[in-house]
Amino acid sequence: MLTTLIYRSQLHPSCKSAQLVSLVEQARSRNTGLNITGILLSDGREILQILEGSEESVVNLFHKIRDDKRHCNVVELIRDYGPRRRFENVGMLLFDLQVKSAKDVLQSVLHYSKLESYLASDDRVFKFIQTFITGKMPPQSGAMFDADKWTLSRENLPFGEGIGLIANQSCQFALQPIVEPTEGKISSLEALIRGNDGGSPEHFFSTLDQDKIYEVDLQTKAYAFALAEKLGIGGHKLAVNLLPMSLVNVPGAVEFLVHQIKIHGLQPEQVIIEVTENEMISGFNKFNSAIKQLRAEGIGLAIDDFGSGYAGLSLLTRFQPDKIKIDREIVCDIHLSGPKQAIVKSIVSCCTDLEITLVAEGIEKIEEWCWLESAGIRRFQGFLFARPQLNGVGDINWPHFSR
Ligand SMILES: Cc1cc2nc3c(=O)[nH]c(=O)nc-3n(C[C@H](O)[C@H](O)[C@H](O)COP(=O)(O)O)c2cc1C
Repeated sequence: MLTTLIYRSQLHPSCKSAQLVSLVEQARSRNTGLNITGILLSDGREILQILEGSEESVVNLFHKIRDDKRHCNVVELIRDYGPRRRFENVGMLLFDLQVKSAKDVLQSVLHYSKLESYLASDDRVFKFIQTFITGKMPPQSGAMFDADKWTLSRENLPFGEGIGLIANQSCQFALQPIVEPTEGKISSLEALIRGNDGGSPEHFFSTLDQDKIYEVDLQTKAYAFALAEKLGIGGHKLAVNLLPMSLVNVPGAVEFLVHQIKIHGLQPEQVIIEVTENEMISGFNKFNSAIKQLRAEGIGLAIDDFGSGYAGLSLLTRFQPDKIKIDREIVCDIHLSGPKQAIVKSIVSCCTDLEITLVAEGIEKIEEWCWLESAGIRRFQGFLFARPQLNGVGDINWPHFSR
């Protein structure tokens, strides 16, 4: 299928822009063999390249180009399909904005292209070209935090050895820190439910009688508070996941939570209830009065997996939580994806305006953290920093800047 891929990048400081001329010449003859066409625009620092051809050959070539050390911060902007090429008969052409004016570059791009047939239809490819030529591309925020300049060092067991399996409980909890890496600070601990065999939450809930789910869900929170007390989490915050319907269906649920929090030596203000975006949306009207009750007690509320559902933003028009955790799907490989970056930038801007704390979860790569940090996010959760540990808090990896 005819595929068009556009990416943007920045020329590496060691690669002079004059080198682009020979680079593109070589590219042109290789592309002809691969039946790939396209153009490369540059202003001497920023690059925008359009590649078109069969999906397989375009994607294979893009992977090679992405690893090329002559440029950096390579971010894919579009991968789209269409009936015809925009740059037929052009293996690869260079348009240098240092040599010609923006107006002339635009004219010659149009001259070499078959864009006229697309122009009538608000063509996104053409809009990217136009935005680049007119110098209106938003700056790359990720470029400020360079992943190569950071190394990780390990802090062993910040709360000492774990407790081991706890007897006479229907389940266990694994704790995973949420950290502020640049401050070297743990901002909270999330208590993740596990079966007594260490199994996942899904497996644990699947072993329960359906009519007991909400009751058990609520009661198990007492184990999480007891664990926090045993480990001595001090003033740290503790986040627990809860099915919102547990608060609606179990009589006296909020009173139960508050009582358990207090008898385990915690303050309600230290506790954050995490509810997934989808659960929140589906039961919002029923859940609304329980939210008010929780807030009145001082307990915090977080929306988990934000962005995984279909109506996260519209939910924010009705209800603003203390904290939003951006879904791991959005965060995964964010340093490589233009659409993901645009979405996260809008979430950051919206949460800044609303004074909602943002957490990015599922961070596994230092590049993901660097991009998100430079986009303004300060709190992170994920294997890169710390794995969940059964009845304890595991080692934490802290990033350090090395010149
Ligand atoms: C900005 C930039 C654009 C490039 N465009 C192409 C291209 O269109 N076609 C191509 O074959 N190589 C292109 N290259 C070079 C590839 O990254 C790679 O060096 C080349 O395909 C040879 O790879 P190989 O030696 O592994 O076969 C580009 C490199 C850079 C830095």
